[in-house]
Amino acid sequence: MYHEPILVETFLSFFSELTIRHYIDGTVGAGGHAHAILEAHPEIERLYGFDRDPEALEIAGETLKPFQEKTTLIHANFLDFNRYVPESVEGIFLDLGVSSMQLDRPEKGFSLYKEGPLDMRMDPSSDLDAESVVNFCSEKDLGKIFRDYGEEPRWRAAAKAIVEARRKKPLKTTTDLTEALKSVLTWGGRRGKKINPMTLVFQGLRIYVNDELGGLEKALPKGIEALAPGGRFGVLTFHSLEDRIVKHTFRQFASQEKTIKILTKKPLIADAEEIKRNPRSRSAKLRFIEKL
Ligand SMILES: C[S@@+](CC[C@H](N)C(=O)[O-])C[C@H]1O[C@@H](n2cnc3c(N)ncnc32)[C@H](O)[C@@H]1O
Repeated sequence: MYHEPILVETFLSFFSELTIRHYIDGTVGAGGHAHAILEAHPEIERLYGFDRDPEALEIAGETLKPFQEKTTLIHANFLDFNRYVPESVEGIFLDLGVSSMQLDRPEKGFSLYKEGPLDMRMDPSSDLDAESVVNFCSEKDLGKIFRDYGEEPRWRAAAKAIVEARRKKPLKTTTDLTEALKSVLTWGGRRGKKINPMTLVFQGLRIYVNDELGGLEKALPKGIEALAPGGRFGVLTFHSLEDRIVKHTFRQFASQEKTIKILTKKPLIADAEEIKRNPRSRSAKLRFIEKL
């Protein structure tokens, strides 16, 4: 398997008492979590696996081959899952963000270390890519993207540097972008020595290009609605912006709507051993709820 599923034992433990007939994996990726749940729950009649990235779906198809009769893989944004899933479900899982496979493919433009085109689209058929954002957004809008989606403290300087660089020539590659920014975003300082200074600008662009936060805000209430009573919904996030949305939405449904119970007061995180084995798990936070 390509992608070691994060917090997989903890994830399985939330479903261990449940009889699952229908299940949605909204971010099937390489199929790691999906494989684990299908193996642990032979009673599953249908697993719906969504991904915006067709290459991820191909890999998921391979991983889930032993279960292909009960698996439906769908190329779509998970926020549209109710167009494809006719019944209520006992389990839903989202493992957000980009996968290590996507990061490893320089042609996607996500990597801070390998040169690629300024693409950053998870779904290659969607309209907006990072190249158009970087070359055509106003300085003010670029600043907002870096501030709101990257939480980059030097958002103003970063936006200005890009606008100055693109006056000379359009930015086409991830190297063009890092070259444009290297005098304003430097190693060390408040970020610490280990964090690449371009990390937050790349994160902001990626979140904007893929409308990651908007998609999550729309998907969570729909997911809660689709759960059968007693059904469980887990979300694995990788940065504070995502986790905040999940925490607030779950709290709102638990306290105002009173349709769910929160199973994780605090988010669960990976232990030192897992972080060593799989560095991507370092920033992972897992939250689970149950439908009443
Ligand atoms: C971290 S990976 C999932 C890995 C998977 N849990 C596994 O064990 O192999 C996240 C995947 O979600 C997909 N993705 C992210 N946002 C999505 C969305 N809004 N709709 C559908 N797929 C999405 C990405 O393309 C990526 O393949």
